[in-house]
Amino acid sequence: MLKFKIFKKKMYKLIQLEIHLTDHCNLNCNKCGHYANFVDKEIFTDIKQHIQDINELSKKIYYYYIKLMGGEPLLHPDIVQFIIATRKAYPRSRISIVSNGILLPKMGDDFWKAVVDNNIVIELSKYPILGNKFSELLDLIDDKKAILGQIALKKRFYDKLNVNGTSDKFKSFKSCNSYFVNQLWHSKLYTCMACYREYYNNKFKTQIVLPTGVDIYKASAKEIYEKLNKPNDGCRFCNTQSVEYLWSQYNPKTN
Ligand SMILES: C[S@@+](CC[C@H](N)C(=O)[O-])C[C@H]1O[C@@H](n2cnc3c(N)ncnc32)[C@H](O)[C@@H]1O
Ligand code: SF4
Ligand code: SF4
Repeated sequence: MLKFKIFKKKMYKLIQLEIHLTDHCNLNCNKCGHYANFVDKEIFTDIKQHIQDINELSKKIYYYYIKLMGGEPLLHPDIVQFIIATRKAYPRSRISIVSNGILLPKMGDDFWKAVVDNNIVIELSKYPILGNKFSELLDLIDDKKAILGQIALKKRFYDKLNVNGTSDKFKSFKSCNSYFVNQLWHSKLYTCMACYREYYNNKFKTQIVLPTGVDIYKASAKEIYEKLNKPNDGCRFCNTQSVEYLWSQYNPKTN
């Protein structure tokens, strides 16, 4: 009689995954850490690509936290499908939508149904520009019986870009609090949000090295796990100390 041995594939676990639904934004903050203020046209992530990518990734890496964001995620006309596909691929993760909230009052019933049915947390960034309207957003989330997550008060923004790439990558990495916030972008997993420096390079014709990006289709789970979350050449372009800025909208003439 034939005997079969069933080997259970090892599932690697990482902490946090962020996924851009759009790269562009409707607010364009100065010093946006995802460089959305330098995206000068609409860039929507393709939903079909997202479904393929998130299914592939879920076979290899488990994430405790998944954040659907951008740019501004509420701008994406297919946001409901992003919610459904991401939950299907990751039934046990804490999945949230991170938004500036501007479009929240305009979201349709299908959006709220998908949020509630799929146990999606709404996380809002509170920018000074919203003023008193912010409390209306909280009431709305409550009315819709959705889960309110973290409210991030954003009076100040921080920037640690070193355009010259002269930093010690080990020191930068050691002082970094973004290295475990991986980004799924164009079917690659990147160590951190510094991958969006590609938009800075495009705008200013610079040669900033992006953090490690691993092709999720070509790399094994072990390779992904081992390559990410360690010092990489992109870290040479981060200072150990951040510069603080009062929050403002980006103005190409003055910033
Ligand atoms: C890139 S935004 C995307 C989602 C959405 N547009 C928003 O602003 O909430 C995600 C989070 O990163 C924060 N963020 C972006 N750039 C930052 C910076 N330079 N300093 C501090 N927080 C920043 C935002 O305030 C927001 O809480
Ligand atoms: S609202 Fe969010 S994505 Fe848009 S520019 Fe500000 S921080 Fe960046
Ligand atoms: S490039 Fe390195 S130091 Fe900079 S944010 Fe990413 S992991 Fe941190």
